[in-house]
Amino acid sequence: MREEFAVALAELKKRRQPSIAQLELLLSASSGAEEEMLFTAADVVRHQELGDAVHLRGLIEFSNYCSWDCHYCGLRRSNQTVNRYRLSEQQLEAAAFFAAQHGYRTLVLQAGEDGFYSGDQLADMVRRVKRIADVAVTLSVGLRSRADFEKMRRAGADRYLMKQEISEPDVFAKLRPGTELKERVACLKWLKQEGWQVGSGFMIGLPGQTRRTLAQDLLLLQEIGVEMAGIGPFLPHPETPLREAAPGSLDDSLRALATARLLLPTVHMPATSAIGTLDPQGQRRALACGANVVMPNLSPTVIRKAYQLYPGKVGTTEDAMASHERVVAMLKEINRPVALDRGDGIRR
Ligand code: 5AD
Ligand code: SF4
Repeated sequence: MREEFAVALAELKKRRQPSIAQLELLLSASSGAEEEMLFTAADVVRHQELGDAVHLRGLIEFSNYCSWDCHYCGLRRSNQTVNRYRLSEQQLEAAAFFAAQHGYRTLVLQAGEDGFYSGDQLADMVRRVKRIADVAVTLSVGLRSRADFEKMRRAGADRYLMKQEISEPDVFAKLRPGTELKERVACLKWLKQEGWQVGSGFMIGLPGQTRRTLAQDLLLLQEIGVEMAGIGPFLPHPETPLREAAPGSLDDSLRALATARLLLPTVHMPATSAIGTLDPQGQRRALACGANVVMPNLSPTVIRKAYQLYPGKVGTTEDAMASHERVVAMLKEINRPVALDRGDGIRR
C-alpha cells in the first residue's frame, strides 16, 4: 500500500475536503489491499449514512427520439437503424400501474431530447402517473426552457436527472456537438435553486478522459450539490462514431463509485444497468462499494430493443415483471432489503 494513498483515504474518511490529487490517488487504487480498503470504506459510509435498504426507481423510457447526435449514444439522431417510438398514454399508465402494485416509490420518466413534447404534455404525464401511483417523479428529458421546467414542477415533478457526462468542456463539446457543458451545469444549479432534487453523473472510460478528468467530475458533482449521482461505464455502440473505442473498465467504474461515496456521503447512487451489462457481477459489486439504488426497467417489452443507448443492455427481452423480479432476487442474494420509503434527497 502506498503511503500517500493511505493518507488520502484517511482524510476522506475524516470528511476533510480532498485535493484533486488526493481524489486521483483514490481513483488509482491498485488491485489488492488498496482497492479493498477503498471499497470497504465506501461500504461503511453507505451503511452509516443511508442504511442497507436499496431504493428501487422504476424506469420508463417513454420516447427514443432525440434531436442531438452524441458520439457515444445509440439513440443519436444520425442512427437510422433505430425504430423510433413514443409510448401511448395507455402504455405509460400501464407501467405506472405496475409500479404502484409492486411497491415502487419513485418513477423515472426518461427520453431522448424529443421536441415533440411540449412543457404542458410533459406536465400532463407527471400528473397522470401521480394519479396512479404514490411515487416521487423524476424527469430526465434533457435541456428544456425554464417555463417548461416550471410547468413540470407545478404538476408535481420532484426530481431531475441530467448527466454532465464528462467535465472537460472541450471533450464535452466534441462528443456532444452543439451542446455546452456550462449550459448544462447552469441548468442543474438553477433547478436545484427552484427546489428540484437534482441528479447528474458521468461515464467511465470515454475517449479523452483521464484520471484527472474523473477527479474533476467528482468535484463538479459536489459543486452542483447533487442529491443523486449516476456513474457507470461507457459501452461502445456499433452504430456510433465511437464504435471502435474500448469500453470503460469494471475496476475503474467501481473505484469511481467508491470515491464518490466517500466524497458525497449521502448522495443516492445507482448500481447502473451499464455496469450490469459490462459484467454479470457488476451491479452486486457496485452495491458493495457505495451504491444504494437500482433502477429496474418497467418499459413495455416491445420497445426495449429500440432504446439501446449501448448494445447488449440487460433485460432487453424481459417484461416489467421479469426485470423487477431479477432485481429483487439479486438483492435477496446479497442480503439487502428493498427500501419502503421514497428515498428523497438528503440535504445537509
Ligand atoms: N454507454 C454507456 N452509457 C451511455 N449513455 C448513453 N450512451 C451510453 C453508452 N454508449 C448514458 C449517458 C446518458 C444516459 C441516458 O445514458 O450517461 O446520460
Ligand atoms: Fe440524445 Fe441523450 Fe443520446 Fe445525446 S445521450 S444522443 S442527448 S439521448
